[in-house]
Amino acid sequence: MDGNGRWAKRRLMPRIMGHQRGVESLRVIVKACRELGVKYLTVFAFSSENWRRPPDEVSFLMSLFMKMLEREVASIHENNIRLKIIGNRSFFDEKLQRAISDAEALTANNTGLTLTIAANYGGRWDVMHAVQQMLKEHPGLATSFTESDLQPYLSMGDAPEPDLFIRTGGEKRISNFMLWQLAYTELYFTDTLWPAFNRRALELAIASYQHRERRFGRTSDQLAANK
Ligand code: IPE
Ligand code: MG
Repeated sequence: MDGNGRWAKRRLMPRIMGHQRGVESLRVIVKACRELGVKYLTVFAFSSENWRRPPDEVSFLMSLFMKMLEREVASIHENNIRLKIIGNRSFFDEKLQRAISDAEALTANNTGLTLTIAANYGGRWDVMHAVQQMLKEHPGLATSFTESDLQPYLSMGDAPEPDLFIRTGGEKRISNFMLWQLAYTELYFTDTLWPAFNRRALELAIASYQHRERRFGRTSDQLAANK
């Protein structure tokens, strides 16, 4: 969800107004995903590198996260959405950590969209953390282990691999997001800034995805023969 600051700056508004509008976009996109039948939506809200921003902006983002949880959890639950937060939450203050666990517990058995918010998340952290946890539980795996040994310890361990990655805001980078999981994901980059990203923009991204051929290393002819 990139481009909040620039969106605000272009309107001569403080960056934080862009973040506020960004929450609005998220609401719109979650609703659209539910209606379109998307089963998993994972959004990058705050990276482990974002702590380097000015302290005022960081604390605004933290309180926005807290407010979002307080305000939205009831309607998230009503809409049968399962909410998950991935990332190193030990950096957050206790109140926020509690709000996160409560929201996850409340919505754990919901069967509609799984909405995952990556907060203080980094793809490398995720892999390193998974290896450490795996070895803590299975020290015997230290000399040799497989991808499926590691899988359950990754923060998206119970989710299918993502079909489509969307980055808003014009940069053409992954920026340490879900490095392991994106191996075969279709990448889509748009100049649209996150606060301006709406249902129409999401539909365009999905349409672009639908025109791609996913070969997973095979040839086009092989795919055609299987049909
Ligand atoms: C994305 O918008 C939101 C967060 C990373 C928290 P930015 O804040 O990165 O907006 P730009 O890139 O400065 O426009
Ligand atoms: Mg940015």
